[in-house]
Amino acid sequence: VGLGLEVNVGYLAATALDLSGRVVLSSQVPLESDRAGLDGVLALAEDSLARLTADGHRVLGLTLAVPGQVELDTGRVIEAPNLHWHDRDVAADLDHALGELTVRVDNDANCAAAGEAAFGAGRGCSDLLYLTGTVGVGAGVVVAGELRRGAHGLAGEVGHAPLGAAGAPCACGRTGCWETAVGLLALLRETGTSFAELGSHDPVTVASRIAERCPDDEPVRAGVLRFGRSLATGLAVLAATLDPEVIVLGGSFVPLGDWLLPVVDEQVAAVSSSRVALSTLGLHAASTGAAAAVLGEVYAGTLALA
Ligand code: BGC
Ligand code: NA
Ligand code: ZN
Repeated sequence: VGLGLEVNVGYLAATALDLSGRVVLSSQVPLESDRAGLDGVLALAEDSLARLTADGHRVLGLTLAVPGQVELDTGRVIEAPNLHWHDRDVAADLDHALGELTVRVDNDANCAAAGEAAFGAGRGCSDLLYLTGTVGVGAGVVVAGELRRGAHGLAGEVGHAPLGAAGAPCACGRTGCWETAVGLLALLRETGTSFAELGSHDPVTVASRIAERCPDDEPVRAGVLRFGRSLATGLAVLAATLDPEVIVLGGSFVPLGDWLLPVVDEQVAAVSSSRVALSTLGLHAASTGAAAAVLGEVYAGTLALA
């Protein structure tokens, strides 16, 4: 089997796929804070490996999806702003702790795009854009059936394009980034809610609790619609640039689909024929794509089976 893990703000997720693409393990760990450490990742990796081995599976490799820029060849995380990871040799740390297992590290949005394209809302689409709905915002771009990374590996780093409100501080150190307008913290700010009040840090639970309030709470609904307009503005640019068949919205966007989609659809339809869909893999999108990446290497013969 291929094992995919995701570390993000508020949660960890794991998915294992066998060689036929069947899910043999799927788990999620909620986190209290944004200071996700490598120890949490290691604990989840070890727990997943133990469960898979106990079930008689052989784990062929592990890919970890992280919310940041990754140097693919080395597995170094250049910058994961919302985890406060800077220039960190994550693959080496995991390799060291996990011994024999081949470990790769990749960007969360890229993994999620691959996951949705193969198993989720983008099934059968050769041109797809995935947008994460987490504290950070990033995109994964699939063109002609292939994940595109760009000339420098940074394709999809749209969360830090200056499409937000001028002056709004971003975890990356700059201001006015798009993720300050369409990330999870912006959703809380616009709706006047908080993690503490909503009782969760995971983006899907947080957004579900906000969605429950929308019908009867005018200020919350108005906040969601403002948030939706910021989302629509950026998505229209992406749709016009890439002309994807489908734009898949993930994480916190999913439970708010009824409120966000009308706003987004209108703007996207004005400039493109792209369809907007909600992720069907939820918080497992990135770990599913990460697991699939291991299988891809096995099929391609670039991962030794010994
Ligand atoms: C990071 C991206 C990541 C996104 C979603 C952004 O802050 O720069 O690399 O894909 O958050 O986690
Ligand atoms: Na990306
Ligand atoms: Zn930024």
